[in-house]
Amino acid sequence: MRFLIVGDIVGKPGRRIAAEKIEKIKKSHSIDAVIANGENSAGGLGITPETCEELLRCGIDVLTSGNHIWDKKEILGYIDRQEQLLRPLNYPPGVPGRGYLIHQSNHVKWAVVNVSGRVFMNPLDCPFQSIDRVLPEIQNETKIIVIDFHAEATSEKIAFGWYTDGRVSCVVGTHTHVITADERILPGGTAYITDIGMTGAHDSVIGIEVQQIVDRFLTQIPVKYTVAKENVILNGVVVEIDDKTGKAISISRLSLT
Ligand SMILES: [Fe+2]
Ligand SMILES: [Fe+2]
Repeated sequence: MRFLIVGDIVGKPGRRIAAEKIEKIKKSHSIDAVIANGENSAGGLGITPETCEELLRCGIDVLTSGNHIWDKKEILGYIDRQEQLLRPLNYPPGVPGRGYLIHQSNHVKWAVVNVSGRVFMNPLDCPFQSIDRVLPEIQNETKIIVIDFHAEATSEKIAFGWYTDGRVSCVVGTHTHVITADERILPGGTAYITDIGMTGAHDSVIGIEVQQIVDRFLTQIPVKYTVAKENVILNGVVVEIDDKTGKAISISRLSLT
């Protein structure tokens, strides 16, 4: 199976390039399934039922998220009804939504898991112990398992990749919005990359207007963020996974303007 995994889609410019490119990439790269991180799809912060459904209509099968999942309050009453939208698995028990989904494409079952790191982030449950708790039930259903590990620290992401190597098909990092050049297949057969970058304006500070962020650093006064619009780019990876073994065959970066 060939997956397209798209980095954090930021605001309207990100949604627009997703609508323009995803169906084309599916054809040109013979993609079977698409996963994208949608935590910044609504005005750069959070996701609404409307932006979620707009992105699903672009040909995305499953949307993952991260620390911005609750920024738009209307998502709270919606997430339990929308199984194609995940929130990090390691929120405390009882929190709305779900951290993984078993999906099917062309009669092949596959799983996506969304996990959050906790170094320089909100103190959620341990991501390492959380994945251990759910992997047996997922592995009962399928060997094809893709993880979006939404985290800040490169060390935590790399450690998580090694920790799950051989037990899952692929671990991609999200959250920093900057694509890293370290894609590889680990010895156990897990495709890994520390961050798949963002889908939004490249002329920005991780998707937001440059001057606003510079002013914030200069003054330390909080400002209202505006999504940047110039030089929009779609970042992600294409990952090929052996249907029978669940091991990764290849991983390659994709950056399109
Ligand atoms: Fe993000
Ligand atoms: Fe994030």
